Amino acid sequence: MLSAIRPIRRNPLEFLATTWRRHGDVVQFPIPRPATYLISGPSDVRSILVSGAKTQSKRTLQYDNLATVTGNGLLTADDPPWREHRRVVQPAFHHGELAGVVDHTFEALGPWLTRWRNAGPEVIDLDEVMMEVSLQVVASALFGSDWQANAAGLTKSTIVALDAVVARARNPLAPPLWLPTPGNRRLKSATAALDAAVDAVLDERARGQAVQGDLVDLLIAGLRRENGSVDRSAVRDELVTFLVAGHETVASALTWAWYQLAKHPDVADELAAEAQQSLADGRPGLSDVSGLILSRAVVDETLRLYPPAWVITRKLTQETQLADYCLPAAALVIMSPWIVQRHADVWSQPDAFRPHRFVGVDARGQAGYLPFGLGPRICVGRDFALTEAVIVLSVLAREFRFELTDAGAITPLASVTLRPPEGLAVRVSRR
Ligand code: HEM
Repeated sequence: MLSAIRPIRRNPLEFLATTWRRHGDVVQFPIPRPATYLISGPSDVRSILVSGAKTQSKRTLQYDNLATVTGNGLLTADDPPWREHRRVVQPAFHHGELAGVVDHTFEALGPWLTRWRNAGPEVIDLDEVMMEVSLQVVASALFGSDWQANAAGLTKSTIVALDAVVARARNPLAPPLWLPTPGNRRLKSATAALDAAVDAVLDERARGQAVQGDLVDLLIAGLRRENGSVDRSAVRDELVTFLVAGHETVASALTWAWYQLAKHPDVADELAAEAQQSLADGRPGLSDVSGLILSRAVVDETLRLYPPAWVITRKLTQETQLADYCLPAAALVIMSPWIVQRHADVWSQPDAFRPHRFVGVDARGQAGYLPFGLGPRICVGRDFALTEAVIVLSVLAREFRFELTDAGAITPLASVTLRPPEGLAVRVSRR
């Protein structure tokens, strides 16, 4: 394992994929403690995340490090308080809320539509645009806020915080958080920026402003101490969790979708034709989404090839039988959608971008498909994310063409999500 430290730090995706290709679907790493496994068989992964959900926890290095930013929010928490908090937030993600997601997404695209309609062709970083748009969607749909003006600062803080978290997780000698090293200082000031944004939302609500029955209101009403007072730190943890989990993931998926569309102009043209036909001239509505079949297939296929959450870990709390293997209690299990979603047992041409494989197919039921996880801890924002992504692709593809300025292949950087290391430079022009 010592010789693996370098390859893991250089390219963890390649390290995991090579390990899997060499050793198969169940691999135990030569680490004394905890017993650590890479599990990649589609049915084994399902059995761990679904059937084994009651005998596992999220107390792994991955989630403990993430918790330095998100605290004990939904993504990192065990039960209690996970189940109760999930019940509290669930109404914000019911099907009935998706019409609002369509509206907020269209609004967030507004300034970009105006700019690109009025300017000549220009070169932009589309990754940055996707980050800012998806942040604004979270801000307006879930927090009732407008973060357009400070979107660039907040998306930067998110990336700095998450990169620092990952750097800590990959450094066996990571300094304690109280030491003022440059890395720790960056992490602290980025987290402080996210906290400040969330605090401003809570202060507004405390002054009785902008009450609208959204996620913030659900949390304020639902997370109370025994004496009836609002548990502000629990609410803060959830809001930072949603800020972080709700925008960089969607932005990552969209950026890779545009990258693949630019590499496959025939699919981009077909997507534009679908959008021109299905979307009425004005605002898109929720009823339009079911007609955007290719757009959804492009999102599904992008999430297969570039799963933003490329690694999922669990600590087993009990001995667990997995096919012919017995995994001991306290074992660490690593599962990577990046590998499982390229498993040749269930995917034909696994490395090819072929969105048509999902046309008329419900991706959710496919074996070996888990971009949003599986089982009780499945992503609460899945339908929110899919709706947002389909609208962004269609509304922009309907009017604009995005061409790569550099035809070279881009290798994803595996941070908390998968990102293009230098952004995505494209020339945007009107169709
Ligand atoms: C393409 C976009 C997204 C992807 C790929 C994604 C992926 C995931 C995955 C894989 C998990 C499960 C992690 C595990 O089992 O350990 C998860 C959980 C979660 N996601 Fe997402 N997510 C996306 C968008 C969103 C959005 C838009 C939101 C909120 C607005 C969100 C909020 C959450 C939360 C709160 C959890 C924790 C759920 C729980 O444990 O109860 N995600 N996400």
